Amino acid sequence: METIPALLSSRLRAALTDFPDADPKVMAANDTRFGDYQSNIAMILAKQAKANPRQLAQQIIDKLEVADLCAPPEIAGAGFINFRLKPEWLSARFGDLSRDEYLGVPRPARAKKMVIDFSGPNVAKAMHVGHIRSTILGEALSRIGEFLGHSIVRDNHIGDWGTQFGMLLVGWKTMLDRTALEADPISEMERIYKSVNAQCSADESVREAARAELVKLQSGDPENLGIWKEMIRLSQSQFDSIYSRLGVRFDATLGESFYNPWLKDVVASLKEKGIARESEGAMCVFSDRTLPEKEDPFLIQRDGQWVDIPALVQKDDGAANYTTTDLATLDYRQREWAPDEIVYVTDGRQQHHFRQLFAIFRRWKPEATTRFAHVWFGAILGDDGKPFKTRSGDTVKLVDLLDEAEERALKIVNEKNPSLPEDERREIAKIIGLGAVKYADLLPNRQTDYVFSWDKMLSLQGNTAPYLQYSYVRIRSIFRKATEAGIRLSGGSEFVLTEPAELTLAKKLGQFGEVLPLVMDDYRPNLLANYLYELASTFHSFFEACPVVKSEGVTQATRFGLCDTTARVLAKGLELLGIRAPERM
Ligand code: ARG
Repeated sequence: METIPALLSSRLRAALTDFPDADPKVMAANDTRFGDYQSNIAMILAKQAKANPRQLAQQIIDKLEVADLCAPPEIAGAGFINFRLKPEWLSARFGDLSRDEYLGVPRPARAKKMVIDFSGPNVAKAMHVGHIRSTILGEALSRIGEFLGHSIVRDNHIGDWGTQFGMLLVGWKTMLDRTALEADPISEMERIYKSVNAQCSADESVREAARAELVKLQSGDPENLGIWKEMIRLSQSQFDSIYSRLGVRFDATLGESFYNPWLKDVVASLKEKGIARESEGAMCVFSDRTLPEKEDPFLIQRDGQWVDIPALVQKDDGAANYTTTDLATLDYRQREWAPDEIVYVTDGRQQHHFRQLFAIFRRWKPEATTRFAHVWFGAILGDDGKPFKTRSGDTVKLVDLLDEAEERALKIVNEKNPSLPEDERREIAKIIGLGAVKYADLLPNRQTDYVFSWDKMLSLQGNTAPYLQYSYVRIRSIFRKATEAGIRLSGGSEFVLTEPAELTLAKKLGQFGEVLPLVMDDYRPNLLANYLYELASTFHSFFEACPVVKSEGVTQATRFGLCDTTARVLAKGLELLGIRAPERM
């Protein structure tokens, strides 16, 4: 289905015979008293043609053919063209929308292939709250991209290589507690790592041992490779259990180590093409001075001077690093998937890394047309405004956080609905608890830090997941009541919208298809979250103003149609955010 702005734009384009190149944009009106949609095209064209905008607007309206869908357009302000949709047209359109399998979301002009790189936890370490935003945001973007008709490859770039394995190997060989490992593998691996790391700073011989174990691992020693693989296996099973709880899946899980075979070639090729050069024993990429200094990721301002901040692609000991691996990864993804776009979801502290990475790749493979995006996010803060920590000051483990979310939600469900069977209450608590955590994460603009608050996110009032889930449940209960009252709902009936609250709700439902594509323009699921909240509020106003079960005839059919479509848009919207909607709560 075409969106209403798209439809009005094409009508405008047809009327702009004197401006064949014009691209008239139509937007939802800010103030619905003056219309439903508006366009500023007359103002834009008048500026170019040095004409009077209101006069030009009138000339456009004179040629505009929209009588089938709206009242005569009006000119407002400095030259806005305002459109007010006709109830009859809106009624028919709402009928189409209610039957559309994509709920009014248009198919893309061209489907894109996108690789979304998200989550990326590290082996032998617990996933912590820092990974939660990447996981939740990446999954939501993947779901939305898919629903929009794009082809998505979800790739988990796990941290499974690096100097930490030297220390882990020493710990594994000298102090591993097998029983503890069986009971809780991640905690035991964290314990041995911390302990060896502490010894290293005090004892040169331990540091030397760690270095030796690392070299053995790197040169393929079978024993060390075996232990390393075991650490990966144990970590992966912990990641998998969290992913299955969160409803997250991946198409590829290619850890950093997967790219080891290509690292030497990457460095050699960069050197050969004159992109990397030796500096103090290391291989570095410096600025090529093609960009303005302010935009150059290889320059930084210090004491009023622009100085070099090169990217390291090989350390002075010959080892490759995160950047080298990411270059090999980019190259692999080009060969394997030839994507139109690669999207990286990580926290804001990696901004500089990705700016350098993308710039190096452009110089290295100038023929590549892939678009790159670093979708970064801010921190999760505690009540005190500092990074979110446990009471004892440790980073919060994701498992503990999810457990607590379910427990807290269970308390609420027990209070509100004690008569439900226990396993159903537990199931609902899972849906609500996890939904609340996810929604709290997706709702703020991703680049701002947000304060983690259980009370706020679990509240049934305000812009929260439980409020949206409750709105869905409430609509479902209207249908149960209808069935109990013996009302037979026939599908395919005609709809006639008359009441203002009905019209407002139908228009809001139509905006689902306008909002969703915008999410992917700038990778902002918060636009969808806010839309769903507005939809739920609009629904509640409708429900207060318009009796549904107690109405009759075509009015009743129309109102049931509005209820049903609202429930489906709410459920779909939540699903796209990775959140389930319970039938009861
Ligand atoms: N493992 C990294 C971390 O924990 C995230 C990986 C992001 N993806 C990438 N291709 N660099 O910060």
